Amino acid sequence: MQKFDVIIIGAGAAGMMCALTAGYRGRSVLLLDNAKQLGRKILISGGGRCNFTNQNIETSAYLCRNSHFVKSALARYTQWDFIGMVERHGIEFHEKTLGQLFCNESAKDIVNMLTTECDWAGVTTQLRTEILNIDRLEKGFALETSEGGYQCDSLVIATGGLSMPKLGATPFGYKVAEQFGLKLLPTTAGLVPFTLQPEDKEKYEELSGIALPVTATAECGKQFKEAMLFTHRGLSGPAVLQISSYWKPGEKISFNLLPELDFVEWCKTITHESPKLSFKNALSRLMPKRLVERLMELGDLPDKNLNQLGKGEIQQLSDYLHNWQIAPNGTEGYRTAEVTLGGVDTDELSSKTMEAKKVPGLYFIGEVMDVSGWLGGYNFQWAWSSGYAAGEVV
Ligand code: FDA
Repeated sequence: MQKFDVIIIGAGAAGMMCALTAGYRGRSVLLLDNAKQLGRKILISGGGRCNFTNQNIETSAYLCRNSHFVKSALARYTQWDFIGMVERHGIEFHEKTLGQLFCNESAKDIVNMLTTECDWAGVTTQLRTEILNIDRLEKGFALETSEGGYQCDSLVIATGGLSMPKLGATPFGYKVAEQFGLKLLPTTAGLVPFTLQPEDKEKYEELSGIALPVTATAECGKQFKEAMLFTHRGLSGPAVLQISSYWKPGEKISFNLLPELDFVEWCKTITHESPKLSFKNALSRLMPKRLVERLMELGDLPDKNLNQLGKGEIQQLSDYLHNWQIAPNGTEGYRTAEVTLGGVDTDELSSKTMEAKKVPGLYFIGEVMDVSGWLGGYNFQWAWSSGYAAGEVV
């Protein structure tokens, strides 16, 4: 049975960061994964360019039952630390929007960077390895795997969440938590498109491909001002993905379709300028014409000239356009979700080291725990920060 100081299960973003950090401290590290390739989610992330962090990392961008949990790790390994590593490797990057940093060339650059750092840190990596059993020893853990038996003092679980099963997502980490008596919080898909009720799907599916800026508001009051996209299944786009993490089944989402505008004031001005202009043509200056036409066909907008609109009607239109409501039927689920909400309860873990309070030597990092970030590089930053926090102490 081969012995290592540290065994990390899961060679994704968090696992690799933890491995290289522990390796540089002189620890012998074995990084195991059942996949054929390292960091598969990194490779497909950000449309192949990996949105690897965000310039504006803040704790309020994370969903976690204990909102203070993320503070310590994010403060000790910041976005600037990761950007520094990216720069040292000569990887060119740019800000796309809202502080989101993407590689100029390819997400492969990030995987190559982490692989190189793991090599420099002396990490042993072993892919295509199934973990068959974990036993707790008096000191440390014994692992039975498809490639033989191993022992370690510290065991780190970095197997991620349930999103995108076709990329190898498994509930392995949750099973380990259960095996050691740690509490799990219910999991659901986050950062995920909405599906619509059959009658709404019929109304809006022909708008598939249309995008517009909106402010999306969930019943809990959380708001995001970004783009919304109509799809043939329902609604997507950054505003929808963001708000999906705050939505509960049965609740409505309210969309301000004219987030930059006071509709009543605009109506007054444009009616004064062009009284005989049709409302359709006037509104099409502000919103995609196909959307205006469809809302008109559905009878939600009037087929009139501007000077035919009464004061009360203008107020009603304002209420409708600034507060267009949809009660989603559900979400597209883990198949397309970027993250998994819920997971290992952070009350079970140290916020400084990610070690399980009840099981010394056992650590959970990355998405497997009940921490999920907004869209925009926040989830990778959590993987880097939590991986580093554990890597510093294992
Ligand atoms: P991750 O899922 O990266 O790694 C887990 C590893 O464990 C994998 O290598 C897997 O093979 C391995 N594993 C699983 N089960 C195992 C088992 N039973 N035995 C052995 N190994 C096992 N975030 C962001 O900040 N910016 C972005 O641009 C994107 N883009 C994006 C696109 C898409 C399509 C998705 C699905 C997700 C994103 N994300 C993102 C989210 C981001 O990918 C995610 O939060 C991190 O990858 C989580 O890192 P982890 O290391 O925790 O898990």
